[in-house]
Amino acid sequence: MINNKPLVSVVVPTFNEEDNIALLLVDIKQGLQGFNFEVVVIDDGTDKTAKIAMRFPHTEVYSGPDQGLGEAIVSGIKYSKGEIVVVMDADNSHSPFDIPRLVKPILQYNYDMVIGSRYVKGGDISKWDRQRGRSSRIGAAIMFPIFGVRDANSGFFAFKKSIVDGVKLRATSWKMMMEILVKGNVNKKLEIPITFRDRMSGVSKNNIKQKLRQAKHMFYLVVYKCRRYISFALVGGLGDIPHFLILWLMTDYGHVYYLWSNMAAIIVAGTQNYTINHIITFRKDRANNRNWFYGWTKFLVVMAIGDFGVQTGVAFLLTQYVHIFYILSVFLATIGSGLFKFLIVKRIIWGKWNWRKHNATSKEHNPKLA
Ligand code: GDD
Ligand code: MN
Repeated sequence: MINNKPLVSVVVPTFNEEDNIALLLVDIKQGLQGFNFEVVVIDDGTDKTAKIAMRFPHTEVYSGPDQGLGEAIVSGIKYSKGEIVVVMDADNSHSPFDIPRLVKPILQYNYDMVIGSRYVKGGDISKWDRQRGRSSRIGAAIMFPIFGVRDANSGFFAFKKSIVDGVKLRATSWKMMMEILVKGNVNKKLEIPITFRDRMSGVSKNNIKQKLRQAKHMFYLVVYKCRRYISFALVGGLGDIPHFLILWLMTDYGHVYYLWSNMAAIIVAGTQNYTINHIITFRKDRANNRNWFYGWTKFLVVMAIGDFGVQTGVAFLLTQYVHIFYILSVFLATIGSGLFKFLIVKRIIWGKWNWRKHNATSKEHNPKLA
């Protein structure tokens, strides 16, 4: 323990890296001078890697569960004693001298996760296999809009161990950075540029089987990330049942003018949607929606703006100016307004943002408003 600095655990999964491990451990020691650190080696290989690593100070060596890189990383996190965990490869593709740049933003600016990124400004893959670099860059570009990180494939990252407390990590592929980013309690994340170079020696263990697993894992994470939007859309669809039932019963049997029936139907269906979304879709964020009635009014207002404003407006523009067949325009507009409604209610009803608090803080932080 160096003058009570937080302990940094560097998790290094190894599979037959006997020609790489010694240099890596020397460089980690060099790079982490002044830090309180331990290295956690999770070895699944059959060569002398573990034997070599055991000779190094600050280094704990465990034989892995032999179920692939993902499981090795999960057990490395489990064995880590540090408050901050760093994950990196053992083949010197990642530079140990970049570890302080990953850890400092967590220590100094309270970031939850820092990613070593090849595809932010300053990132460099010129010393990596061109072919692999190209396909990796394309993959990362596809995933950026969904996950909001430039290098979703990165295997070099650091995070506060507390963000995965109580989180069940699925180690079904190598994509553990993404698994932690999507499942962990990550509020503040940062990407810093790194240089990624060809492995020093030995062969890559990444093959078509692994890549298929990674693609499946990524698809699962996309669905997981969109799970609330999917639930919101399903609840909206379910709401159509009472909507049309009430519209029909009140108009045909109640002899009420159909527009009044529709108003009543919107309120009843809206109330059902609001209640089910509060109970299921946003169950983890219920606490943010303290005043049920206030939430209900906001929900109906957003639904009205979404249906009458966004959906009708977009359908008109697509039909009128893009000349799309009106049924398709309405369908696309419904998806668009659904997304609009979801993003708004997620923020102003079940999110941390609400008018009163926002108004108070802006006055506080911006004396001119006072
Ligand atoms: N314990 C354990 N068990 N370690 C493993 C296993 C396993 O089954 N398979 C691979 N490793 C270790 C390797 O020994 C190496 O330290 C690290 O995991 C990465 O393996 P490489 O074979 O070097 O993978 P790569 O260079 O093709 O892939 C790297 O870059 C990708 C980005 O392009 C990794 O960082 C990937 O995670 C990353 O997505
Ligand atoms: Mn590698």
